[in-house]
Amino acid sequence: ETPHPADLIVFGGTGDLSMRKLLPALYHCDRDGLLARETRIIALSRGGLDDADFRGKVDAQVRGSVPVDGPAEQELWQRFLARLHHVTIDVTGEDPTGWTRLGELLAGHEERDRVFYLASPPMTFGPFCRQAHRAGLVTPASRVVLEKPLGRDLASAQAINDEVGAIFHERQIFRIDHYLGKETVQNLLVLRFANAFLEPIWNSLWIDHVQITVAETVGTPGRRGYYDHAGALRDMVQNHLLQLLCLVAMEAPARNDRESIRDEKVKVLQALRPIAGSEVDRFTVRGQYTAGVCGGVPVPGYLDEPDSKPPTEASHRVETFAAIRAEVKNWRWAGVPFYLRTGKRMPYRCSEIVVQFKDVPHSIFPGSAPNRLVLRLQPSEGIRLHIMAKEPGAGEVALKPVPLSLSFADTFTGRVPDAYERLLMDVLAGNPTLFMRRDEVEAAWRWIDPILTEWESQSMLPEPYPAGTPGPAGAHELVGRSGRTWHDEDPS
Ligand code: BG6
Repeated sequence: ETPHPADLIVFGGTGDLSMRKLLPALYHCDRDGLLARETRIIALSRGGLDDADFRGKVDAQVRGSVPVDGPAEQELWQRFLARLHHVTIDVTGEDPTGWTRLGELLAGHEERDRVFYLASPPMTFGPFCRQAHRAGLVTPASRVVLEKPLGRDLASAQAINDEVGAIFHERQIFRIDHYLGKETVQNLLVLRFANAFLEPIWNSLWIDHVQITVAETVGTPGRRGYYDHAGALRDMVQNHLLQLLCLVAMEAPARNDRESIRDEKVKVLQALRPIAGSEVDRFTVRGQYTAGVCGGVPVPGYLDEPDSKPPTEASHRVETFAAIRAEVKNWRWAGVPFYLRTGKRMPYRCSEIVVQFKDVPHSIFPGSAPNRLVLRLQPSEGIRLHIMAKEPGAGEVALKPVPLSLSFADTFTGRVPDAYERLLMDVLAGNPTLFMRRDEVEAAWRWIDPILTEWESQSMLPEPYPAGTPGPAGAHELVGRSGRTWHDEDPS
């Protein structure tokens, strides 16, 4: 199918996300022939750049992160740069010059797919949509993409959804969670729903518990302004970890279409057992990293991260690590703990889902251990099923857990596209399956809100953990209380 011409308008188009993720992803799509010849990328910012300045900036900042070798690639890169435009915009609407200029650029191109990508803080979503509407730029076929975080609690998320919803119809709104665009996350659906063997044992009869870990080695240098007011719960759990939980726990959808999968995910969110009040301390842990050694390099604690802003009261209170014992109260899952954990400055970067099966009902061999299915999302994507095997030998039977292992890199050749490539192409194609619907986002906040309220009302600060260690002691107690341990295995 030939790609349809589009105008992709990126608000926050000169920012970090744009430079690090969106523009490289778009270049890869362009190289792969997925953008129509006429497609334009129009960055909007307060920056006062003209097209040439912006192209120069992208050439300087993005070219190094994408493959541009040899004359053929040079030509592709120049063609990509020629797609770029920049318009200086005032989102308050006080200075309408930019809106007029944007209107001129878009005039006569109403038949193209028009996508407004808001890679900007959530409080700008409403004002941007109103200004775009006032300037007459929102066509019936336009779409709007909202980057996370969508608000900072249920009330603010609802307010943003209302404001955006006043201008755009729900089917035009694409709420991004880039985890849903990751190859291995999509593969989770294929593993579950294109294979018959797992389904009969995918429930509380056979599964002891599930662990979902997103561990990062990065800290938050230069991000204090955002992170002090976000924290791990808002930044990672409300979206990425809950989405992963939904994909593990959801029922089989009847179809692979835009609503069926989202219908099933929202049911999982609605079935989460609320954690509120005095239970928050029992079922959640928050931590903040102190100075330590990460990847062999000494690194400062959260409060001493280099930043243009000095630490404040909020910096002392914010969590860079969160762990939660969740439970999905439905027929399939009641009684199965879902342990969620995420942190900055952990010993290694690793996102994985561990499904821990129950032990055999009766063991006739000494030393048996329950099966464990490990779905590694990053790095080195793969699936491992830990099974028991007999160690070769004529003497007494000795058991050993061994992995049945599938490595994506060894099995499939070719480049694994970045999540943003997939998601951007889905937006251009108008396919919202991998985007969050309003009710999903709000259901997730509804569950997160009471935990936030309790944390924020406590005088206690997050538990410290040295950078380069797997979180505070409380996280180990959270699983240890029931005799369980976190699956901690260096993926390298
Ligand atoms: C983002 C968070 O949504 O996800 C970041 O804001 C985090 O704090 C990032 O580092 C992790 O994404 P990935 O794709 O590197 O696992």
